[in-house]
Amino acid sequence: MLPRTSQIVSGTAIAADEAGTLKVRLQLQLSVTGGAHYMDATELLTKDHEAVRQLFEEFESGESNDSKLDAYEDLRQQLLIHARIEEEIFYPAIREADPGKAENPVKEALTEHQQVKQMLAKLDEMAAEVDADFDESVKQLAKSVEHHVQEEENDIFRVARKMGKQQLGELGDRLQQRKNELMNAGMDEDDQSAPQ
Ligand SMILES: [Fe+2]
Ligand SMILES: [Fe+2]
Repeated sequence: MLPRTSQIVSGTAIAADEAGTLKVRLQLQLSVTGGAHYMDATELLTKDHEAVRQLFEEFESGESNDSKLDAYEDLRQQLLIHARIEEEIFYPAIREADPGKAENPVKEALTEHQQVKQMLAKLDEMAAEVDADFDESVKQLAKSVEHHVQEEENDIFRVARKMGKQQLGELGDRLQQRKNELMNAGMDEDDQSAPQ
């Protein structure tokens, strides 16, 4: 007998016989969380961008070295995971959606990701002391990130929207799933690589 949840989406139960258990489990999980996709790819990435802005503000308003370092650690993790899911999943999908229009903005975005990672590596070396130089470097990082986010939301999201609603939704699910994995893993394996 089928589990109770599969009765919510009888179409998915049919897919169970054809496509195998793993796929069906995923579809069932999605059906339980609302029948559609939780967030599409651009919504998810925009939400991440907003979270990073808030962390920069948190850093800025931190009243002690410890609170600033905590905000920096969160920022670092968010930025690295965000860059990673874009590089692994989002940018390749954009390139596939419209290779001609995607190539230049994606190349530029990858270069900017590398710059951000280099800035983070420098900050990591400085993090023993949260002084004026550290503050200034975080400000520079915030500027670079904001510049990158603006271009991404304009140029790359424009290409993304050429995908249908369904495809953008599925892409959002894949991004969220990978993000969860990396957050659970703590993102220790490093990420200074330069994807092309
Ligand atoms: Fe982004
Ligand atoms: Fe990005």
